[in-house]
Amino acid sequence: MTMDFGTIRELLVGRDPDAVREMYGLADQTRRDHVGDDVHLRGLAEVSNHCRRRCAYCGVHAGRTLPRYRMTRDEVLEAAREAKELGYGTLVMQAGEDPGLTRVMIADTIRAVKEKTGLAVTLSLGERDPDEFAAWREAGADRYLLRFETSDPDLFRRIHPPLASRGLDGRMAFLRQLRELGYEVGSGVMVGIPGQTWDMLARDILLFRDLDLDMIGIGPYLPHPDTDLVRFPERFPPAPVGEQARADGETTTRVVALARLMQPDANIPATTALALVNRDGGREHALSRGANIIMPNLTPARHRRLYEIYPAKADFTETARAAQATLAKQLAGLGRSIGTGRGDSPNRRKR
Ligand code: 5AD
Repeated sequence: MTMDFGTIRELLVGRDPDAVREMYGLADQTRRDHVGDDVHLRGLAEVSNHCRRRCAYCGVHAGRTLPRYRMTRDEVLEAAREAKELGYGTLVMQAGEDPGLTRVMIADTIRAVKEKTGLAVTLSLGERDPDEFAAWREAGADRYLLRFETSDPDLFRRIHPPLASRGLDGRMAFLRQLRELGYEVGSGVMVGIPGQTWDMLARDILLFRDLDLDMIGIGPYLPHPDTDLVRFPERFPPAPVGEQARADGETTTRVVALARLMQPDANIPATTALALVNRDGGREHALSRGANIIMPNLTPARHRRLYEIYPAKADFTETARAAQATLAKQLAGLGRSIGTGRGDSPNRRKR
């Protein structure tokens, strides 16, 4: 199948059930051929909810009055040990864009995690200085996640207010820097942002390939009541009827399938946001239509409830440990196994 703009757009919006089923089947087969039946688990530590940015969609933006926390090195190490015990290959350190997480602190934590657990380390800490990216890579970080959120420059600008935002070009420059430093690079989008059209979404998917992404994160946009997008809807009008991309589970799963077809060797998670909009079956659908990664949350409960980038995120209060047996059963039911080892992106290896 040639994956040009027209084909992708039609597969996103099309109503022909046979075509959709065929796409899902092809995505699943491509996933099996390129990344196998293993589902790799990444332990997620949400290391800080401080943020200097004012993203219009995000529940921890700088303008909110909200108790803020920052995990200590020992807390992060504890999460890493738990990840190791549970058999995961990777620790993901994610946070708001928090200057209080200094270059030295993060570098020390990366070194400690590597020394004590040998886990692969993924960072997701926003747009930081080149010398910070370099120092963290030097300290042993393997991967970096930085979604571009939307490939439309105007929509990007609107949802990332000028305050400190270098626009979509800036975001692309950050992704290039990360690549040049030797990180495995992950990016991705939210699906169904007000003002996001089907055309834009089709171009997002083309950009996955242009950027040659090693990891692709895709989740539905979920309105958070204490954000500009919800409080000032007049500033964020939806696209005209029939043009506005839907923020539902079906659309998100189609984007996952198309991402797999575009970048066959990438690692693609079944995201928490998708599991949330489609509580019965969201995760399974993603896994059987292209996804091969799950990111169980290892953030201590008292912090986790304060990392509500979207509503009800903290509803998932079950500990990763308690969920492990259910997860193993769920995966076995899908004919899948839990991956051992680091689960590096075959896309990166190929490059
Ligand atoms: N709905 C869905 N996803 C969101 N994110 C942030 N806020 C929201 C929201 N309200 C996603 C962004 C970000 C990632 C860490 O979480 O895509 O890159």
